[in-house]
Amino acid sequence: MSDNTTEALREEMVAICRKMNSSGINQGTAGNLSVRAGDRFLITPSSLPYDLMQPEDIVEMDFDGTYVGRRPSSEWRFHRDILKMRSDMNVVLHCHSLYATTLACHHRTIPSFHYMTGVAGGTTIRCARYATFGTQALSDAALEALEGRKACLLGQHGQISLGKTMEAALWLAIEVETLSRMYVQALTLGEPPILSDDEMARVIGQMERMSYGQAPDAEGANDVARPRHG
Ligand code: 13P
Repeated sequence: MSDNTTEALREEMVAICRKMNSSGINQGTAGNLSVRAGDRFLITPSSLPYDLMQPEDIVEMDFDGTYVGRRPSSEWRFHRDILKMRSDMNVVLHCHSLYATTLACHHRTIPSFHYMTGVAGGTTIRCARYATFGTQALSDAALEALEGRKACLLGQHGQISLGKTMEAALWLAIEVETLSRMYVQALTLGEPPILSDDEMARVIGQMERMSYGQAPDAEGANDVARPRHG
């Protein structure tokens, strides 16, 4: 990967980390971000506030755990393992957003109480079992919870969202936080009803077909939205 491409990725990482803070899903030195870069990956350094972080502070790591630069995020193991196992994804974003973490403190899986649960790729957003931060055990638990999914909660810890791009991973992390907030609020009236697996299969199919709002309606739909010219 050329130096120019790596430099552009580092700059985008700093911008995305600052958006994590300004969107309210992160605070202090919690949270971390990694991006695939050729046969290596780039990851945020440990314990450096994002408003101070500069592109040159981003750490370049090999999949064997060796690195160049500052000390990498304490969570480099789950970043490394997810990027290794999930060739469909290029970005791993972790944060301690408030409502997702509230559910994770109770080891709650988010069910299909709302159709948007499907944005993570399945009928639930699972909560991984608790393991100490920075350990291989946490990485193993996260990988299990992410099977067939693009997001999960981490028991008594926070959330992980994946993406092909940094913007997509950030978007998903904000969606997971919004859904978590809705679920916590819905629970105040009792356990809400759950959409059926058949309906969720339709929802996920529809999301894939429409790239969720970024692609035109399916061919053959009886009422097709199209741009007006002139
Ligand atoms: P780092 O600063 O080492 O990335 O740790 C923050 C964190 O969220 C640990 O889970």
